Amino acid sequence: MQLLDGKLVSGIIKETLQVEVEALQRQGLRPPHLAAILVGEHPASKAYVASKIKTCEYLQFKSTLIRLNEDVSESYLLEQIQALNESDEVDGILVQLPLPAHIREHRVIEAIRPEKDVDGFHPVNQGRLLAGLPSLLPATPYGILLLLEHYQIPTAGMHCVVLGRSNIVGTPMSVLMSRNTYPGNCTVTLCHSKTNDLASYCREADLLIAAIGKAGFVKADMVKPGAVVVDVGINRGPSASSPQGYRLTGDVDFDAVAPKCSWITPVPGGVGLMTICGLMKNTLKA
Ligand code: GUN
Repeated sequence: MQLLDGKLVSGIIKETLQVEVEALQRQGLRPPHLAAILVGEHPASKAYVASKIKTCEYLQFKSTLIRLNEDVSESYLLEQIQALNESDEVDGILVQLPLPAHIREHRVIEAIRPEKDVDGFHPVNQGRLLAGLPSLLPATPYGILLLLEHYQIPTAGMHCVVLGRSNIVGTPMSVLMSRNTYPGNCTVTLCHSKTNDLASYCREADLLIAAIGKAGFVKADMVKPGAVVVDVGINRGPSASSPQGYRLTGDVDFDAVAPKCSWITPVPGGVGLMTICGLMKNTLKA
């Protein structure tokens, strides 16, 4: 078994991004600027946004964090997005999800100018992805492509099984892996909570991508020997020994599954770090 090492690969990608920012500076151009909107006090969302802002600082991107109260009105949030859309100083906009129940997520996503939608969630970007046109890719699937590419995983002809059909990961991932590009050219099965005998599909997977948000869901008897396993899960479990009081675990029972795999991503240190790389690459592109 070998690790698909998100720490290593994200480090390499960040170095190339730094070089590109320096090249912009030499041309007298300003660095990329990411604006993030965080609504409320969701602990995981706060942590994700903090690490996105920290990565901006590391890369010498400009960043703006707009923090809004949990009870902010939808119309006020839309006004904030409109101002960012109109600003020539802002290249990328992200609104951290989930949003409080009184705010319509689709209204918020649709309010972001597609050219600044560095999460790749806008229907224009999702539609362009589906049509095989250039677009801003959703950051997690993009990060997974970068990881598979770095390790030159020979995906063509593989049976790729994706667990989870979210708009953020599972659905775009299934489309990208079926495209006639590298990494891709897979035969794809998209499994979800209503799939009958889901384990039987997993056992047929040459490439298994787990994005269902259930800690340790994928067990050793669900994995074909020699499979490539990509674990998208970032689940918080209790831990008395860690300073934060929680520890992160994936959707895959890593200790049991890893010995059966040819390649596997760890959690932490896998897809999460690659997601931030996808976001930063999108921001530079935007
Ligand atoms: N919530 C979970 N994942 C994401 C993401 O990639 N982007 C945003 N904006 N919110 C998320």
